[in-house]
Parts: sequence; C-alpha cells; structure tokens
Amino acid sequence: MKTVVTIMAVWIAVVFIGSTFASPPGRNVEYAGGGAGKVIFDGRVHADQKIRCADCHPKIFTMKKESRMTMADHNANRFCFACHDGKRAFSAANNCAKCHKK
Ligand code: HEC
Ligand code: HEC
Ligand code: HEC
Repeated sequence: MKTVVTIMAVWIAVVFIGSTFASPPGRNVEYAGGGAGKVIFDGRVHADQKIRCADCHPKIFTMKKESRMTMADHNANRFCFACHDGKRAFSAANNCAKCHKK
C-alpha cells in the first residue's frame, strides 16, 4: 500500500509540474538512436516483467529523459545494458534489431 501511494505521488507530482510524461510504466521513451535506428523503450513491456520503479530509478536512470547512451555503454553494462547483459535480459551483441528499428 505504501508503495502504491508513493507511485501515485510521483505521478501526480509529474503531471502537476507539467513535464512531458513520456515515461514508464504505461508509456514509451523514444531515442533517436545515433544512426543505428530509433529505439523505443516500452514501459508496459518492462512493467509486465515485474520490474519495479526502484529497479531502474534512480540508480540506472534519473527520472528525466537525459541519458545519452554510447557504444561504450552497450559493452560496459550501463543504462539499458545493466539488464540487457545476456543474463537478466537479451544482450546487445547480435540483438541490435531488437532495439534499433530502421
Ligand atoms: C526498466 C526500467 C524502468 C522502470 C522499471 C521504470 N522506468 Fe521510468 N524511465 C526509464 C527510462 C529508460 C527513462 C528515460 C530516462 C533517460 O533516458 O535518461 C525513464 C523516465 C522516467 C520519467 C521521466 C519521463 C520524461 O519524459 O522525462 C519518469 C517520471 C519515470 N521514468 C517514472 C517512473 C515510475 C513512476 C516508474 C514505476 C511505476 C518507472 N519510471 C519505472 C526506465 C524505467
Ligand atoms: C531493470 C532491468 C531492465 C532495464 C534497465 C531495461 N530492460 Fe529491457 N527488458 C528487461 C527484461 C527482463 C525484458 C524481457 C526479457 C527479454 O526480452 O530478454 C526486457 C525486454 C526488452 C525488449 C523486448 C520487448 C518485447 O517486445 O519483447 C526491448 C526492446 C527492451 N527491453 C529495450 C530496453 C531499452 C531500450 C532499455 C533502456 C532504455 C531497457 N530495455 C532497459 C529488463 C530491463
Ligand atoms: C537493449 C536495447 C539496445 C540494444 C540491444 C542495442 N542498442 Fe544501440 N542504443 C540503444 C539506446 C537506448 C541508445 C541511445 C540512443 C540515443 O541516445 O539516441 C543506443 C545508441 C546506439 C548508438 C549511438 C551511440 C552514440 O554514441 O550516439 C549506436 C551506434 C548503437 N546504439 C549501435 C548498436 C549496435 C551496433 C547494436 C548491436 C550490436 C545495438 N546498438 C544494440 C539501445 C540498444
């Protein structure tokens, strides 16, 4: 119950400060993809995996769309690749097209 209240508080706060609310769990975050094809992070898909806000925020991602992910991050298990490491979820290697859509 406490968790639910906290989540609601975050949502309400975000709506009230009028930020663009393109965020998990029900929304998508879109990245241009640096020429490799745009990437859509689907909040619903991730929520359905029973991943909670605190699994990603604030340790892996802040609650602002600001992360710039480089090729080095792909290989060093930072940001998305903290999970997309071939153990918890599919890895970057050989799976480019699962994230990058041309
Ligand atoms: C699987 C990881 C993941 C989970 C779980 C997750 N988020 Fe996020 N969230 C992200 C990513 C990725 C971004 C974009 C951050 C970036 O690019 O730096 C983001 C961005 C946001 C933003 C900013 C959106 C914007 O457009 O500026 C808010 C607010 C947010 N998340 C709230 C939540 C809440 C509340 C929950 C739990 C109900 C949650 N997130 C769960 C990954 C996650
Ligand atoms: C907290 C762990 C975690 C983080 C962080 C995370 N993911 Fe995932 N993601 C998963 C899991 C678990 C799955 C489902 C298992 C699988 O497909 O290997 C998944 C599945 C996906 C899928 C497949 C969706 C489908 O329709 O099957 C895509 C695409 C994806 N993630 C992209 C991203 C992107 C882009 C980011 C960063 C912005 C990201 N993920 C960050 C855990 C994570
Ligand atoms: C789990 C999802 C995911 C997978 C798998 C993935 N990427 Fe990415 N990639 C991203 C995200 C998210 C970004 C950040 C895009 C942005 O900031 O516009 C990115 C950015 C990039 C960039 C731009 C880097 C820069 O410095 O601007 C390149 C190039 C790239 N990816 C290539 C690849 C290649 C090649 C593969 C396969 C070997 C791959 N990616 C696999 C999610 C993924």
